[in-house]
Amino acid sequence: MSKELEFHLKEAAERVNIALDALLPRPDGPEERLMRALRYSALDGGKRLRPFFTLEAGRMFDADETALLRTAVAIECVHTYSLIHDDLPCMDDDDLRRGRPTLHREFGEAMALLAGDALLTFAFEILADPATHRDPQMRCLLVSGLARAAGPLGMVAGQAADMEGGEISSDLIAMTRMNRLKTGCLINFSVDAGALIGIASDAEKLSLSRYAHDVGLAFQMVDDLLDAEGVVRDTGKAVKKDGARGKVNFVTVMGVEATRERVGMLAAQAKRHLMPFGPRARMLIDAVDFIITRRY
Ligand code: IPE
Ligand code: IPE
Ligand code: MG
Ligand code: MG
Ligand code: MG
Repeated sequence: MSKELEFHLKEAAERVNIALDALLPRPDGPEERLMRALRYSALDGGKRLRPFFTLEAGRMFDADETALLRTAVAIECVHTYSLIHDDLPCMDDDDLRRGRPTLHREFGEAMALLAGDALLTFAFEILADPATHRDPQMRCLLVSGLARAAGPLGMVAGQAADMEGGEISSDLIAMTRMNRLKTGCLINFSVDAGALIGIASDAEKLSLSRYAHDVGLAFQMVDDLLDAEGVVRDTGKAVKKDGARGKVNFVTVMGVEATRERVGMLAAQAKRHLMPFGPRARMLIDAVDFIITRRY
């Protein structure tokens, strides 16, 4: 990873952590345990890649930094909620996340469910707040964009397909669609939101969206590769579970080599979509290599 990308990733993570800490309710008062639970998950690290995408895409158009940061925080709240619920016994039943016990292992299932609910709804409170953007129409576009990406025709649809994996086993098209929905949609919105806030042109928005499409798919393929080949010390979550549980993913269906080949193709394609931007897109282009070679 280039020093510059390392710096930008770290900077995005730090800014998001500080903003999240400031925005999330404090753990005191009668619901102290709920507040501690949502802070446990929201402030426990993670790569903060989606916020990075929003910040970097927006910077290409000199977008307002406060609007970008608050939107990045809202997206990370939705992402964190999705992980909390994904780990529940009724879903993937995982005990480890980001190197620590999953939320339900630490606080119980009811509290994990509720902390997820709280983060999901809180994301929209952040976006709808005039502090995010002075233009109410822009706030509406952000709210509906995130809702569409995360909702019944987006991430939740993908998670539903994932849970019913048996029916789509071996069908590469259905699996690609599932991954596009469960992971791709939110990554797409992370990039799109930056372009939206930055008032990019339609052509620029399209190029960035195409980039995000390919990156989102490659990202989930790498997640599947990490499940097959990664080590817990790096991933901070259980490995070799998808295959053992009979879960359908790229690796369990296509194998490691074919998955890796597709990751390479998607990565090259993603970078190509950003060529019209020249050096302005350097961080987003460098991020592709990080995403496909990451070990965590
Ligand atoms: C993990 O996402 C879940 C998927 C969508 C594959 P990340 O790999 O971005 O998880 P964190 O936020 O860094 O922990
Ligand atoms: C989860 O995919 C995608 C989400 C929308 C949360 P996985 O179930 O593969 O994610 P991990 O491997 O548990 O992080
Ligand atoms: Mg899952
Ligand atoms: Mg999972
Ligand atoms: Mg996985």
